[in-house]
Amino acid sequence: MDILTRLNSKTAYSTPALQAIIGAWVASTLLERLPKISTTNGNVSEDHYDKGSIYALLYSLYRSVGTVRSETGEPYELTFNTWGYAWPKDWGTNRTTTGSDPQRFGRNAYTGLFEAPAVKAFLEERGGRVHIVEMGCGTGAGAHHICKNVLPSCTYEAVDMQQAAIATCRRKFVPELGGRLVATHANATALSIQPASADLVVVCETHVTEHAGEVTKEDERFFQTAFRLLKPGGFLVWGNAIPDSTWKPCFAYLESIGMKEIAVRDVTKEAVVARDEDRRRVDAYVDQCVDRFYGFRIPVIGRRRRAEAEAALKNFYRNPGTNLYDNMTNGTDSYKVVAFQKPA
Ligand SMILES: C[S@@+](CC[C@H](N)C(=O)[O-])C[C@H]1O[C@@H](n2cnc3c(N)ncnc32)[C@H](O)[C@@H]1O
Repeated sequence: MDILTRLNSKTAYSTPALQAIIGAWVASTLLERLPKISTTNGNVSEDHYDKGSIYALLYSLYRSVGTVRSETGEPYELTFNTWGYAWPKDWGTNRTTTGSDPQRFGRNAYTGLFEAPAVKAFLEERGGRVHIVEMGCGTGAGAHHICKNVLPSCTYEAVDMQQAAIATCRRKFVPELGGRLVATHANATALSIQPASADLVVVCETHVTEHAGEVTKEDERFFQTAFRLLKPGGFLVWGNAIPDSTWKPCFAYLESIGMKEIAVRDVTKEAVVARDEDRRRVDAYVDQCVDRFYGFRIPVIGRRRRAEAEAALKNFYRNPGTNLYDNMTNGTDSYKVVAFQKPA
């Protein structure tokens, strides 16, 4: 069983199914010639994983693991699949996040999408009564945060390609918002949502634009969808840590389809601070997560797979000491928060 490539985006795996999958992955160690996950820094090369499989596993895992304790003992369910960043000092006070919240950096990442002065002015003109479509919402934790704490008069459609993530959104977040939040399972590159229906399109750490120095065909379809969904005058607000060399071609592509660059802010320094400050929470989460799986208790091969799982999860969270963390500190990747406008 290769958990990096074989799981399905259309499936939310139950806890017994996950136990069986992890057990089969441990057993498959005996057949594997070369390990695909580095236990030194968690790196997995691009041709060894499929994002659909990785996220199918992660979102089923988060639901199955359920409530955990943060490093300070605070109970929470992991729902923000977001690196996020410490709130930049020159952005003023952030009134939507509390200092002790284990997922505060994820909340910052969502709040920060609406901070550019032109976006703030656009929201003010409409009294905050805007319709938002998010492409790649994960569990909808950020959608819920925006609806509840940032734009309490908005309506929001949150889209993700992972059934397990959308199931969490419908269970945990949709019911509380009285019809303002809708969760849709779909690939954002082929959405059947009404064209010109969104005042804002939100993209927060969606797993696209990952290829260094290029805009792939998938990225093009993704941006075309955002353009099509926006009303004239509407904004694409987008934040992520991606290869630094990919921003420029993405901006050029967006301009080529008619979008206008309005704001670009670099928060890489603050993203590194977030990862440093989040380290103990991530360590505690990964421990509690892998402890649940019996397969990892099998002598020798279970221990080896446990080390791989821990390294891969920590790398996915850009924990200090991992490949993706190093990429942010050495300039390979940068975290930017940007706003583009569709001409009125
Ligand atoms: C790192 S997670 C971020 C999720 C969420 N925005 C958050 O911050 O918690 C990346 C997400 O992008 C989603 N994704 C990647 N490509 C997608 C696509 N073409 N359509 C819809 N979702 C996509 C994945 O399923 C995953 O949920």
